[in-house]
Amino acid sequence: MDNNTGSQLRNVAEIIEPQYVIEGGGVLLKRSIATRRLDYVDPFLLFDHFGSDNPDDYLAGFPMHPHRGIETVTYMLAGLVHHQDSLGNSGEIRSGDVQWMTSGRGILHEEMPQPVQRKMEGFQLWVNLPAALKMTRPRYQEVLSSTIPEVVREDGIRIRVIAGKVDGVSGPVTEIAADPTYLDITVPDGGVFRHQVERGHAALAYLFEGTGSFGATGGADGAMLSAPKLVVFGDGDAIEATASSQGVRFLLISGRPLGEPIARYGPFVMNTREEIEQALRDLRNGTFVQVDPAR
Ligand code: CO
Repeated sequence: MDNNTGSQLRNVAEIIEPQYVIEGGGVLLKRSIATRRLDYVDPFLLFDHFGSDNPDDYLAGFPMHPHRGIETVTYMLAGLVHHQDSLGNSGEIRSGDVQWMTSGRGILHEEMPQPVQRKMEGFQLWVNLPAALKMTRPRYQEVLSSTIPEVVREDGIRIRVIAGKVDGVSGPVTEIAADPTYLDITVPDGGVFRHQVERGHAALAYLFEGTGSFGATGGADGAMLSAPKLVVFGDGDAIEATASSQGVRFLLISGRPLGEPIARYGPFVMNTREEIEQALRDLRNGTFVQVDPAR
């Protein structure tokens, strides 16, 4: 919504061109966070956009691999991901669904993308856990598309609310340490989207369809960007995005920075090097996954 006078619109701090990387069993994807250019945006540790018309680019999937100390957020636009894990969970993340997985002290899982009507596309975000929760019990929030509310504004802007709150409508993902907002926003021809983001929180826009500009309209930030791009906002009270004549669709992601030391090694993100070594030892010793831990 519109802000009060005196509130400050966030500038664009960085514009990131996603880079192609090969991950998992051999999946070609576009990565914007966790690259040489942009290591992380506290509390966000990685952002991948996957999808292709060619199944050879992704069918090898992400065979069994561990995670500790983070949350992985998978949002599918098309196709599906079949997943199963060391705790006995399995299922499918389908078009429009979200899986918010809190690895806590550890899970081993596999994530295998499949096309539906020859299409497969989605995103994975990694959200850091604070030191106090890195060894917490693993948790899944499986969010079906039908339970994700869509706000439609009078100006035709459509907002799927996955986490956070828009125009009084809250998303189904709750109780996440980073207090995140995760919105999928479609702005039609020439429309302007404005949204309050708490001062001090990190804010990102991932532009994946169409073209648009971000930051203050008509300001130095007003350059038209075309998909795909990651926009990292500077601090302030609100963000603004303006669609071109083609319209624009983007994810708006924000969250509270942890301000803690980060020691990362592949799928483990802890606070210290020793904790990473412990994770590797646990994996070797078969003590990584604890189904029902002794206290
Ligand atoms: Co994974």
